[in-house]
Amino acid sequence: IIDALNAEEAQPSIVLCGWIRTRRDAKDFSFVEINDGSCLANMQCIVDTDTAAHLGLAEATTGAAVRIVGELVASPGKGQKWEVRAQKVQVYGLADPETFPLQKKRHSDEFLRTIAHLRPRTNKYGAMFRIRSEAAFAVHDFFRSHHFSLVHTPVLTGADCEGAGEMFRVTTLEPGVKDLSEDFFSRQCNLTVSGQLEAEALATGLGRVYSFGPTFRAENSNTPRHAAEFWMIEPEMAFADLDDLMELGEGLTRHVVDHVLTRCEGDVELFDNFVDKGLRERLQHMLAAPFARVSYTEAVEILQKSGKSFTFPVSFGTDLQTEHERYLAEEHFKKPVIVYDYPKDIKAFYMKQNDDNRTVAAMDMLVPRIGELIGGSQREERLSRIEARIREMGQNPEDYWWYLDLRRFGTVPHAGFGLGFERLLMMLTGITNIRDVIPFPRTPGNLEF
Ligand code: 4AD
Ligand code: MG
Repeated sequence: IIDALNAEEAQPSIVLCGWIRTRRDAKDFSFVEINDGSCLANMQCIVDTDTAAHLGLAEATTGAAVRIVGELVASPGKGQKWEVRAQKVQVYGLADPETFPLQKKRHSDEFLRTIAHLRPRTNKYGAMFRIRSEAAFAVHDFFRSHHFSLVHTPVLTGADCEGAGEMFRVTTLEPGVKDLSEDFFSRQCNLTVSGQLEAEALATGLGRVYSFGPTFRAENSNTPRHAAEFWMIEPEMAFADLDDLMELGEGLTRHVVDHVLTRCEGDVELFDNFVDKGLRERLQHMLAAPFARVSYTEAVEILQKSGKSFTFPVSFGTDLQTEHERYLAEEHFKKPVIVYDYPKDIKAFYMKQNDDNRTVAAMDMLVPRIGELIGGSQREERLSRIEARIREMGQNPEDYWWYLDLRRFGTVPHAGFGLGFERLLMMLTGITNIRDVIPFPRTPGNLEF
C-alpha cells in the first residue's frame, strides 16, 4: 500500500492485500479502507454495488483480511492522492463484528495489553513497531559507518556480569534435583544480563564491536521502565577512554533520533498528536544543541541545591534514583545529560578506578521523561587493580580467568556501554510504559502471549 500511495501515475491494475479498517455502505457503492501495515495510511477502495466485486466483499467488515484487484485512480476526495476502484475482491478471513475486539474506536493501552496478539493491527501499535524497526536499522547503520563489527554474544552464560544477582536460571534438571553435575552444563547456567564481558574479548581483537540482542533481568520491579526481557545495544571500543565513550553515546542517540524523525514522519506525527504533544519539538531540540555533561559530584550538588523534596535524599555515594535522574534531565538541563565519574562503591567491579580512589570512570546518559538510557564505563585494564577490586568485592579472581587474560595479554584502555533499546523507543514515541514499546512484554506475571 505504501508504494501505491506514493505512485507517480494512475495504474490500470494493481493488487492490494490487507485488513479492512472501516467499511461504509452507500446506495451505489461501498467505501472500504484497507491497511497492510506498510504505513500508517489506509488505501481507500470503492466497490460498486451490484458488481462481482461487491459480491466478493459480501459480509466483510472491520478486521477482515482481503485481496483487492482494481484500478488506481486519482482520488477526488481530500486527504489522499489515490484511491482504488475495485474490480475483484476476495476475502481470506472474516472477523465477526460481535466478537472481534478491535472496533473503530480508541482503546486504552491497558485493554490493548490484554490482547497483545491483536494490537499490531491498530494505528498506534503499527506505528510503534514500524518505528522500532527503523530505529534498529538506524543503530546498525550508525555503527557500520563508524567501522564497528556486529558481534553475537551468548544468551546462555555462566557469568553474572553486573554482579547484581538478577539472573534467570536455566536448567534441564527436574524440580527439586540439586546436583548440578548432572545438569546440561554441569554447572549453573543463566540467561545473560549483559554481553559486555564477551564483547570486551571481541573488542580486543576486532577493535570496535557492538552487540544488539535480548537481555534478561530477574528484578521483580514493577515499574514502567523495567522489563525482564529487553534488548540492549552494547558497543565496546579498544584504544578508547571515557571521553570517546561519551562522544559515541551522544552520536548514536542523535543519529537514531534524526533517522526516525526523517524516515518515520507520519508515525511520529501520530505520537505527537495523540500521545505526547510536543514530542517532535523535543526530539528536534535534542538535535539542536550538544548534550550536557556533569560529574556525579556536580550532579549531587545540583540536586541538593534544587530545593526539591525527593523521596530519597542525595549525598555523595547515593545511587541516583529515577526521580533524581529525571530532575537533572527534565528540569535542570532540559535535555539529555551525561553524568560521569560515579562513586566506585555503587558500580560494578570492571570499571576503571580513577586516581582519586573514590570514583570510577563510569557514565550514565539520562534523558527527559525516562531517566537512565545508557550505562557504561571505561574498563579497568590494569591486571593488579582489577584483581584487587574483585577480591575487595568478596569474589575469586580465578572465576574470571579468561576475562583477566584480556589484561594479561596485550591489555589496552577500552570502554563500552549498554543502551536499553526499549527506553530509547519510549524516548522516541513519548510512550510512558515499557510494556507498550515491545510487542510481547515480559514483566512480572506477564507470560500469556
Ligand atoms: O546500566 P546497565 O545495567 O549496564 C550494563 O549492563 C553494562 N554491562 C552495559 C555495558 O557497559 N556493556 O544496563 C544498561 C542499560 C540501562 O541504561 C537501561 O537503558 C537498560 O540497559 N536496562 C533496562 N531496560 C529495560 N528493562 C530493564 N530491566 C533494564 N535494565 C537495564
Ligand atoms: Mg545502569
